[in-house]
Amino acid sequence: MSAVIRFESYTWRYSRTKQPALDAIDLEIEEGAIVGVIGPNGSGKTTLAYSINGLIPRQEMGVRKGKVYVMGREVMAYTPAELCQRVGLVFSDPEAQFTAMTVEDEVVFGMENLGLPIEEIERRLAWVVPLTEIGPLMDKPPYEVSGGQKQRVALASVLAMRPPILVLDEPTTMLDPLGRRRVFQVLERLKREYQSTIIVIEHSLEHLIPLADHMVLLYYGKVLLADETEPFFERLAFLMEHDVFPPGVVEFFYHLKQAGEYPADAPLPLTVEDGTARLRELLGGKG
Ligand SMILES: Nc1ncnc2c1ncn2[C@@H]1O[C@H](COP(=O)(O)OP(=O)(O)OP(=O)(O)O)[C@@H](O)[C@H]1O
Ligand SMILES: [Mg+2]
Repeated sequence: MSAVIRFESYTWRYSRTKQPALDAIDLEIEEGAIVGVIGPNGSGKTTLAYSINGLIPRQEMGVRKGKVYVMGREVMAYTPAELCQRVGLVFSDPEAQFTAMTVEDEVVFGMENLGLPIEEIERRLAWVVPLTEIGPLMDKPPYEVSGGQKQRVALASVLAMRPPILVLDEPTTMLDPLGRRRVFQVLERLKREYQSTIIVIEHSLEHLIPLADHMVLLYYGKVLLADETEPFFERLAFLMEHDVFPPGVVEFFYHLKQAGEYPADAPLPLTVEDGTARLRELLGGKG
């Protein structure tokens, strides 16, 4: 697999700040991977997202060093329109990106901007509307639907443009548990049906872990750990030292492993379902 995004000794420091928000980072993201990005507040996650879609440096003031390659080309070498077609960004506050009077217009707007023919717009609507379950909302004003619905509308309008890279910056932070679960259900379906590279910045590890192939820990401007999801969580003590608190099931099996009660070479279960199955095996084996 080839790297679809590559940071090379990349540094960004916002004007009037002393410390860089991202400090000489090296990071590769493979094509087709779903990558979870975590880290405490202020660790540089949003800065990373903006550095991929070009909002940095185009709309922010600061000092940039090193390189960010998106699909083989440096971000600065793209026009904003070119980059927009390659990287779709969904924010935690979806209202910030609404421009139309109805949900349908909102979803169609970006496709019209791309100059797509009407048949193609209809084809994509037929795909994205059921995927994000926004069918009943199409005639409503986008700012009048619930928070979770807004987020699915925002996701639909970005997906309709079929960007090969999708970046979601805390897409469920403003949602209640049900809204959060439904957004993650859409992402799960995307994982199966849409071969894009997806970067999800998210605090809810419980939802992120089953989705992500790779994980990245940002910590005050540095990439402290980047690995496939399972080996990433094998570094539990290190993660906890850096304010990452994985779901109970991961911690439980980690301690079993440390105590020699779980095979050292067996992968850590990352979900409650996995953990339950492993526990049955363990108990069954001894009973
Ligand atoms: N426009 C800006 N001007 C100056 N400093 C900024 C600006 N935006 C972010 N910063 C600073 O850059 C650092 C990284 O911020 P960033 O928003 O990327 O972190 P984050 O990981 O997304 O945090 P959060 O979890 O709160 O969203 C922080 O110290 C923040 O205060
Ligand atoms: Mg942020």
